[in-house]
Amino acid sequence: MNDYDIIRMLSGRSVRFDPEDGALEGAPETVRRLSDLRGIFADRAAFEEALADDNPVIYRVRSIENANGEGDLHYGLGILMPGRIGDEFYMTRGHLHAWRPAAEVYIGLRGSGVMLLEHEESGTGSALPLEAGTIVYVPGSTAHRTINTGDEPLTYIGVFPARAGHDYGAMAARNFRNVVVARDGRAEMMVRTDFLKGLKL
Ligand code: NI
Repeated sequence: MNDYDIIRMLSGRSVRFDPEDGALEGAPETVRRLSDLRGIFADRAAFEEALADDNPVIYRVRSIENANGEGDLHYGLGILMPGRIGDEFYMTRGHLHAWRPAAEVYIGLRGSGVMLLEHEESGTGSALPLEAGTIVYVPGSTAHRTINTGDEPLTYIGVFPARAGHDYGAMAARNFRNVVVARDGRAEMMVRTDFLKGLKL
């Protein structure tokens, strides 16, 4: 057994998490407030109006990234609050993995929402249910963003290759092609440019 094997064996661990409040034992926390999400919501006027009023926490992520060798995994627990900016539900920034082939598995723990996917090359998008009792598989080269379409916090676990890394810049530059909005009391995916045309009418 070489030094690396010993380090790897020691990275075996069991941690407690709380599906209700998103706590994950021993994991550093990243907090995103509304002010961190400028440019994410299509309806910029509604965003500025909401931000002038308050700067709430939109989501928190706690991650465990204690092993970084080939074959290792990272994992984290996210909690995304319920709410809307105009007709758009609260959402995460969304990202591609820096190492594009890296896939990810999301496990829904509490609440109800969707995972918005967009393939990088083709631009093909879909919105898949992410809620308590579902598992969503995100293939490689696919941008992904979680959206809370319900009325309670959405909590989920994500597991991904240690090598994946996060590329937020690529999606920040052009944003997702689709939005998920409230329409007649339901959550609906629509093309961003169509949604924006509707705002101007
Ligand atoms: Ni990811």
